[in-house]
Amino acid sequence: MITRKEGRAFLSNKVWEETDREVRKTDQMEGKPQPPLEKSTEGFDLMKLPDPNSTDLLMKDFIEIIFSRESRRVYSDEKISLEALSFLLWSSQGVKGVLKNNYATLRTVPSAGARHPFETYIFVRLVKGLKKGLYRYVALSHSLILLKEGDFANEVALAALGQKFVGHCAVTFVWSVIPYRTEWRYDLTSYKPILLDAGHVCQNLYLACEALNLGTCAIAAYDQTKIDKLIGLDGNEEFAIYMAPVGKPKRY
Ligand SMILES: Cc1cc2nc3c(=O)[nH]c(=O)nc-3n(C[C@H](O)[C@H](O)[C@H](O)COP(=O)(O)O)c2cc1C
Repeated sequence: MITRKEGRAFLSNKVWEETDREVRKTDQMEGKPQPPLEKSTEGFDLMKLPDPNSTDLLMKDFIEIIFSRESRRVYSDEKISLEALSFLLWSSQGVKGVLKNNYATLRTVPSAGARHPFETYIFVRLVKGLKKGLYRYVALSHSLILLKEGDFANEVALAALGQKFVGHCAVTFVWSVIPYRTEWRYDLTSYKPILLDAGHVCQNLYLACEALNLGTCAIAAYDQTKIDKLIGLDGNEEFAIYMAPVGKPKRY
């Protein structure tokens, strides 16, 4: 059991200050190989997503988007388009460029040291042209991998501590973290930037949803073991860190 003091040490600069940089070197300093920028796609079929750069989708200007953003939890049973899903994935994790020698990706969101420690999983229910199921977003090629076919609405809602709307929507985003991507560079000071990074990802999803007249809601209340098991994550090298259901809002 950790104490509040220990927990808070990760949010303050204490961990940094108390780490003896002369003695404790990061794996990067020690010349250990950098972890891959993204999970492997070997052995999977990749489904290319439509070009996300289609301004036809946009319903509002930027000022309106900022003013109208709110958490929306009541969705209709209407399907969303594949173009809309493509734009949401791009806005939250899309890769704009890869730095030399695969050192880092530059994306639509910022990330400490450009480590981008997240993977995106989506539970699809109501997306035109896609089978219901669990998919992984491959940011480097802007593609999807179908991992498991099926309607997981009830399981997702259960994993979200019974919050029904989290599963019963068009598509539920679940971001996982692979902590070592950040730890390789920042060691014990990784945990604060990882949480800050996650906030940017979800905020971009909020804004992208508003731009398309879609709704979302950040979700941190979930059962860690249940959601990791549902996706097939080991809970240590990779685990869920944030969720967000998306749908056509019933009311605006
Ligand atoms: C980190 C975080 C976790 C949240 N978790 C949940 C959640 O589990 N369930 C929920 O209904 N709303 C959740 N929310 C949404 C907040 O309740 C919401 O942002 C807040 O009430 C303010 O409303 P607004 O987003 O419409 O401005 C979460 C928001 C954040 C930022």
